[in-house]
Amino acid sequence: MGEIPGRKPETGELPLSGRMILVTAGVSGIGLEISRQILSLGGIPIVTTHSEKHYREIPTLLGNSAVPLFFDVTEPKQIQEGLNKLPEKRVDITDTILCQADGIKVMPLLREVRNFSHEHPKTQLATLSPDERKPFYTGLRKKIADTQKDEKTALDVNYFGSINVLTGMMNQEAYRPRTFIYLSSLLSSLYGKIPTSAFYGNVAKSKHMMETLLKSNGDIFDVLQIHPAIVSANLVPDTGTGSFLRLAANYFPEEDLPDLTDLPKTPDVAHEIIRILLENPASWKGVRTSYVISPHEIVNNLDMVDPHRLTELTKNPF
Ligand SMILES: NC(=O)c1ccc[n+]([C@@H]2O[C@H](COP(=O)([O-])OP(=O)(O)OC[C@H]3O[C@@H](n4cnc5c(N)ncnc54)[C@H](OP(=O)(O)O)[C@@H]3O)[C@@H](O)[C@H]2O)c1
Repeated sequence: MGEIPGRKPETGELPLSGRMILVTAGVSGIGLEISRQILSLGGIPIVTTHSEKHYREIPTLLGNSAVPLFFDVTEPKQIQEGLNKLPEKRVDITDTILCQADGIKVMPLLREVRNFSHEHPKTQLATLSPDERKPFYTGLRKKIADTQKDEKTALDVNYFGSINVLTGMMNQEAYRPRTFIYLSSLLSSLYGKIPTSAFYGNVAKSKHMMETLLKSNGDIFDVLQIHPAIVSANLVPDTGTGSFLRLAANYFPEEDLPDLTDLPKTPDVAHEIIRILLENPASWKGVRTSYVISPHEIVNNLDMVDPHRLTELTKNPF
């Protein structure tokens, strides 16, 4: 399988022919869109899920070319058992895209903001001063604060889960992926000044830890010939998180939120991720390991993020 990543496509082959790309959480959210685009470019997505329902839906959603795998990223034994099935399916992983995430329960928050917006129409709140508005937000802010309690899940899934998948793959003797992509939304949330910090503290912490780990282990990745790429996309409006934030943005006028209409959609972000698979991330525009996808600029160095702001965010998300 070492042959596959290096070879050039034959004339007439699709750009991802011969690539077998592990997409964690590849049956939902951004992962599903990425899996679809991989298929349309001739690659084979190896899609993982920890939901029995999603597992059953894989042939319907992605057809029979996608390779289904069932594991919970917090269970190293399950990961190993799943990966051990790949040789008998004649599948070798050439690239990896980690999309699994947990730690924020967006839908209850979305319901809460919707209820709030019905009870307190924006037109009513707009007539009040910021101080007068504050009491109206107390309940909502408490709900948002409650999501912060899910720190353990955020760390287990986003950070330790990613390490478990990486370790599981390294245990496979033949594993030499071309690109290892960690999908985040941390950096451009900060860089793009979209204040996900109001509910994103624990997740931000776990994303930051994983990103730091990827950045600080260049030597190991060199030995393994892995090119780690951190893809940090700005908020995607057509997701649960996006809907929540757009609604919330309407109801926190004192926070001076940016216009959220000019943002990439899920397919745009997926497309950029595929571009990283197609181009060599080690030399792409001189940025070695990190990418920030946002509406106006596609690539930025991680160093552009103000570390002080990050520290403040993870210490005190409110
Ligand atoms: N939404 C956005 O606007 C946005 C923007 C930029 C970047 N991102 C980043 O992209 C990633 C995915 O975002 P998304 O919006 O697609 O998220 P999502 O819809 O919440 O999907 C995350 C998926 O992770 C899987 N998962 C959760 N816990 C797991 C576990 N213990 N083991 C295995 N799989 C688990 C679940 O899939 P199964 O139920 O199928 O297992 C879940 O549906 C996140 O890292 C997010 O920060 C999101």
